[in-house]
Amino acid sequence: MKRRCAVLHWLRCKFYVFVVSLFVVLKLVCVKISMDNSIYIEPYGPTHRSLRAQPLNGINCTAIYELEPVEIGKSLELRRKNIVEVDDGSIVSFTADCKNYMEQRGYNEVIVTDEECSFPIAYSLVVHKNSAMVERILRAIYTARNIYCIHYDQKSSKKFIAAMKNLEKCFPNVFIASKIESVQYAHITRLNADLNCLSDLLSSEVKWKYVINLCGQDFPLKSNYELVTELSKLNGANMLESSRPSEMKKKRFQFRYELKDVSYEYHKMPVKTDIAKDPPPHDIEMFVGSAYFVLTRDFVSYIMTNQLAKDFLQWTADTYSPDEHFWATMARVPGVPGEIERAEPDVTDLKSRTRLVKWNYLEGRLYPQCTGTHRRSVCIYGAAELRWLLEDGHWFANKFDPKVDPVIIKCLEEKLEEKQHQQCLKRVS
Ligand SMILES: *[C@@H]1O[C@H](CO)[C@@H](O)[C@H](O)[C@H]1NC(C)=O
Repeated sequence: MKRRCAVLHWLRCKFYVFVVSLFVVLKLVCVKISMDNSIYIEPYGPTHRSLRAQPLNGINCTAIYELEPVEIGKSLELRRKNIVEVDDGSIVSFTADCKNYMEQRGYNEVIVTDEECSFPIAYSLVVHKNSAMVERILRAIYTARNIYCIHYDQKSSKKFIAAMKNLEKCFPNVFIASKIESVQYAHITRLNADLNCLSDLLSSEVKWKYVINLCGQDFPLKSNYELVTELSKLNGANMLESSRPSEMKKKRFQFRYELKDVSYEYHKMPVKTDIAKDPPPHDIEMFVGSAYFVLTRDFVSYIMTNQLAKDFLQWTADTYSPDEHFWATMARVPGVPGEIERAEPDVTDLKSRTRLVKWNYLEGRLYPQCTGTHRRSVCIYGAAELRWLLEDGHWFANKFDPKVDPVIIKCLEEKLEEKQHQQCLKRVS
């Protein structure tokens, strides 16, 4: 009886309150602790029964945000369990019925302002595994006005690919790249994956003004409303890292690299040869940065059509990790749309707010200690970093992994949702 009253009370609440509540219950990670000390991450609340479950075992994200010791303690407790993720097969089944899937995940209720409607954002998502996480990223950046290109890997599992194709089928504004690469670590194929998406995005009907690229371990730190506000402030400029290369970095493009079989983790990698490369064509001055960007439509058109850009792309094909100097260099070419002038100082990863990455050797100096764990010197964020992540000013962060800390992702989702609603309500009232 009491439950019925509570439910009826909910229904009487304003529409948005209902939607928020529904998200909290349905969408966010619900964790069940089973007898064998495992927790199952269920981002979707696939059955109505989960309506009764407390979201994520009663974790209070506001208390996490406030760094309340009891709540942080609960999140650490959860991390000690065996965290079981939703597998690709479950995502395939869940997304097979688009109507039900979109309803359950609240895609139709995403509220946007007029500003957001007239400022569509394009996304290039280069992903290769963990469709549950890809879906959560999509949900966190989704509005009906934006456009999303997904590039999966030729090497991805059949189920992962099927899940991505289901997403394409469900949304008119989500599509799979028309050309799919077999992406090798630090190889031109990584850059080509983004370029394939960018080319498709340019020919889409959506008149986006800016494009942002993401990978499967990124997550937004800003709501769509905030992104649109920030993008408008860029005023036609690109935002990306672009610094003068160190002597060590220069080796990445002073010598030819060849893709070789390596016995460890990546299987194939570009390996340095003794063959020196010619300097870049057209007297291009080299800059280095990261694979991540926020680019204007005009700049992308330039990259796709300009001969200098084409020649430079070809030249970078046998360098090491060309994605980390292609964009950084092109952004400084005199006369490109949204140009960063060559004389301007370095744009570092702290100045460009594109992507927040925490390196373990800078922790304690440039930013607080990682509260999750490290993978290849990079922090995988933990729950205690929620506030710092949201307040730091970057637009996106890398890396997140629900197996390392499910609470940080759940709480980011919740806080972003909250912000989007508050911002929209403020605009209409
Ligand atoms: C969550 O924590 C905040 C901050 O301590 C508190 O004000 C709020 O009442 C809590 N919410 C719930 C549902 O317990």
